[in-house]
Amino acid sequence: MSNRPLAVVTGASDGMGKEFARQLAAMGNDLLLIARRGYVLDALKDELEKAHSVSVETMPLDLSKLENIELLEKKIQDSDSLLWLVNAAGFGSGSAIFPHVSPDIETQMLTLHTIAPMRLCRAALIPMNVNGRGFIINIASVAAWLASEGAVDYTATKAFLVAFSKSLQADCRKTGVLVQALCPGFVRTGFHSSETMKTSSELYDNIPNFMWDKPQKVVLKSIRAAQRESWHRVVFIPSFFYRVLSTFTYCPILTPLRIWLSGGKMR
Ligand SMILES: NC(=O)c1ccc[n+]([C@@H]2O[C@H](COP(=O)([O-])OP(=O)(O)OC[C@H]3O[C@@H](n4cnc5c(N)ncnc54)[C@H](OP(=O)(O)O)[C@@H]3O)[C@@H](O)[C@H]2O)c1
Repeated sequence: MSNRPLAVVTGASDGMGKEFARQLAAMGNDLLLIARRGYVLDALKDELEKAHSVSVETMPLDLSKLENIELLEKKIQDSDSLLWLVNAAGFGSGSAIFPHVSPDIETQMLTLHTIAPMRLCRAALIPMNVNGRGFIINIASVAAWLASEGAVDYTATKAFLVAFSKSLQADCRKTGVLVQALCPGFVRTGFHSSETMKTSSELYDNIPNFMWDKPQKVVLKSIRAAQRESWHRVVFIPSFFYRVLSTFTYCPILTPLRIWLSGGKMR
């Protein structure tokens, strides 16, 4: 048994989850990695064990299924050395407009983006509270507060994650556990070219370069922000551009300007 801390990362076979796995391993954490594609997780395990002399365990699971969430939940709550939980597993569902969406896919999304993180956070707090220390990162999105056509459930689940993380931090106030709702804008990962995003993937070609972040940068900023306890903020937007855009969206003084710019559609 190792005396290194443990980091659990869901969605670790690609994108930001994979990058969290890499950076947390480089920091000397053992890893428990979860995603559906076991062969990708196994390749990552080999890479990280060789590069950083840490132990990596993989669990190929579909976390949109309740029985799999329960399996992982049990594993997490029995992990005495748990220090990090990163809920990164997620997907987008193209640009279909209600009611022309697949109710099955939307239900899977709700389970993966809300039920799974909620149950995994609950399980993680059992060892974290005993240890008096822990970091929970829930990957939400600036989509949590930007209304977006064809993404009703995506934006709603991300809004859930933001609200959930804020109140969870309030519950954890005296426990030494820090909770972060990581809210990136566009990040260059496999997200926009996945099977469920096929119908809208060409839309993303027109988005200018300055609106895209690299996963390496987003993850580095997120880990640093989580560790900076005295400056800790639950909602963390890793890019300056999206911080400005979010202020514009939120600030009540700017409401008339927002309505004017949207031709009266955005009230
Ligand atoms: N990329 C962006 O622009 C962006 C912006 C803001 C927020 N986000 C959020 O960031 C998170 C990570 O996204 P990403 O950009 O890194 O996307 P990505 O590269 O497509 O990675 C998504 C990860 O989630 C896993 N996953 C998907 N469905 C799963 C399921 N049912 N069960 C278990 N694992 C599952 C995938 O692995 P398998 O396919 O092997 O299961 C993969 O490892 C998501 O929650 C996303 O909503 C992304």
